[in-house]
Amino acid sequence: AARRAGTGALHGKRVTISVGGTREALDPVRFLGNRSSGKQGMALAEAALAQGAHVSLVLAHAEVPPPAGCDVVRVESALDLREAVLAALPTTDVLVMAAAVADYRPAEVMDAKIKKGDGEDPVITLVRNPDVLRDAVLARAGRTGPLVIAGFAAETGDATADPVSHARAKLARKGCDFLVLNVVGSHLVFGQDTNEITILDARGTESAAIRGSKRTIADAVIAHAAGLLQD
Ligand code: CTP
Ligand code: CA
Repeated sequence: AARRAGTGALHGKRVTISVGGTREALDPVRFLGNRSSGKQGMALAEAALAQGAHVSLVLAHAEVPPPAGCDVVRVESALDLREAVLAALPTTDVLVMAAAVADYRPAEVMDAKIKKGDGEDPVITLVRNPDVLRDAVLARAGRTGPLVIAGFAAETGDATADPVSHARAKLARKGCDFLVLNVVGSHLVFGQDTNEITILDARGTESAAIRGSKRTIADAVIAHAAGLLQD
């Protein structure tokens, strides 16, 4: 609020943030969804606004409203979200993919409500959704101005690797500039107001753990993106 017009690390820059959880329709009244609250994405929007950016939200389903002063494009499914993100890219300087994008969608969407029958129980067949983050990275090739692209990843360790190794592999696969890694432990992250993250940069650096409110984390993520934009 103390910011003067014309100041801020992202003054005059355009930041696009995908927020919330996608919903994949089964029929006109049902969908497959996820528990993303949208709180981290909204905090990112506030952080970017505070740095003087022009902020566009590609908003899937969220439990909290967007902050005043953003442009908002509402989307439902992963395919809708992809279209909106790719449409925003040519005028975007920083893209943060904070949305929980469904990995799969029902192969068929019924035009009419699915009714219970006396026959066999229905089986839902799923097909892969496109990777929006990866597609944004591919769309960046051949562009003139700089574009910073960041993703989020919640990882656990397992028999094959620790969370950081999983996230490094994901960062390499996606080809974005950095990944915000949330190590998921015994406590659930979804819907909570505080968080702990590490920023893994494609240049090989790894930040110290950043702990605090979603806004604290958002400020760190936006500062990292602003730093890359200046390089
Ligand atoms: N993401 C995306 N499009 C998808 C799935 C994910 O753009 N279809 C983005 C998310 O917004 C997030 C990043 O990719 O910024 C990582 O999401 P995550 O689900 O961790 O990655 P996946 O590649 O789907 O890997 P996993 O098999 O672990 O779910
Ligand atoms: Ca996924």
